[in-house]
Amino acid sequence: MRELRIKLSPKQKAFRDSKATFRALVGGRGSGKTYVGALDMAVRAMSADSRGLLFGVYAPTYGMLKDATFRALTTICDQMHCLRSINLSDMMLKLGNGAEIICRSLDDPERARGPNLAGAWLDEASLMKRDAFEIVIASLRGGGGKPGWLSATFTPKGRAHWTYEVFGSGREGTELFRIRTLENPFLPEGFYEAVRSQYTEFFAKQELEGEFIDQAGTLFRREWFRIVDAAPGGLRWARYWDLAASTKTSADYTASAAVAQADDGTVYVRDVIRGRWEWPDQERIMLQTMLLEGTGVEQGIEKSLHGIAAVQTLLRRRELARISVRGIDVDKDKLTRALPVAARAEQGKLTLVRGDWVRDFIDEFVSFTGDGSTHDDQVDAVAGAFAMVSTPQRSRRIVAW
Ligand SMILES: Nc1ncnc2c1ncn2[C@@H]1O[C@H](COP(=O)(O)OP(=O)(O)OP(=O)(O)O)[C@@H](O)[C@H]1O
Ligand SMILES: [Mg+2]
Repeated sequence: MRELRIKLSPKQKAFRDSKATFRALVGGRGSGKTYVGALDMAVRAMSADSRGLLFGVYAPTYGMLKDATFRALTTICDQMHCLRSINLSDMMLKLGNGAEIICRSLDDPERARGPNLAGAWLDEASLMKRDAFEIVIASLRGGGGKPGWLSATFTPKGRAHWTYEVFGSGREGTELFRIRTLENPFLPEGFYEAVRSQYTEFFAKQELEGEFIDQAGTLFRREWFRIVDAAPGGLRWARYWDLAASTKTSADYTASAAVAQADDGTVYVRDVIRGRWEWPDQERIMLQTMLLEGTGVEQGIEKSLHGIAAVQTLLRRRELARISVRGIDVDKDKLTRALPVAARAEQGKLTLVRGDWVRDFIDEFVSFTGDGSTHDDQVDAVAGAFAMVSTPQRSRRIVAW
């Protein structure tokens, strides 16, 4: 192993220096958790008394393992010139001292049973089930007579989560370090500010400050909403359609909202439509709304299975020839999509244009938890329309048929 000049931030260093059996680094997004977790694993596995021993590196899913954890580990090992060989298909590294590191995802924690490990690192531990932690620590028996160790790096998920109970409550043999996103001097300029502007205060505390906190349950508060009689003129409006999952039964809601953003950042919502319709009625309502709003409003339809068929059917209608109708890819979960809207609402910048839809609308927002346990079609519709008006046209993830 050649001497490598690596500078660690103070919390990264404290985590590295800790001698506790179970060490955790909890922190904000991009604070350098994976980087130091990988470095720590590589240095420990390369130490003189690790010759020929086996180490385990774990991520919650195969995608995270491949794109972040494994990548960080191989990069660091490469920089340290300590790789003897690497088996990409099996995600296994052999180091210069004969130590081996197996890298595994824990989609199914049971698959972690078996190996005798000298040490293990769980990246994104708070996205793993508690079983995963328990199964991995039971594998720490391959230290050649020395006790095995485990490190965990993660973003907190509240005090009810197992990571808090194990690492945050001062248990014997554990040590916890907390690192904030802003403490990483290696982040690109403006990264923190860009992410912060998308988060509510609660999410910023958790996702950027790395604090273990519990949300009251819901994302929006009733007092955040403002109601006006009319929106100012000259705004660019977009309407987003969140279609019911099925066209055949009428169990599910279809919702649609028109949204615009003024120069001062205020987000206006008008004419929310919501109902349980089977397809022929749904198509009629969509067609009528689009014709009524005309060319001035861009129409987006969520690209679900059914959304694709809906856009194709609508595009065949000659009446809509001059109206912009697009299918929109959805690549994030409902909570993440709603966060930018919640951040504006918290700043008093979500304004509803008076209508008989407003009461139900606010009721749905203040009970929205983002975990699918409440109705979320109107929240989704506003989040979708807001993404259409707030993203620059060029980089928008919109696919038109
Ligand atoms: N000590 C360091 N020296 C050089 N670069 C670093 C250091 N620490 C972190 N970085 C860089 O900062 C960026 C963010 O680090 P990293 O990916 O480890 O953050 P993270 O906390 O794991 O983020 P996430 O929450 O998204 O998983 C990466 O580009 C990483 O290479
Ligand atoms: Mg990471």
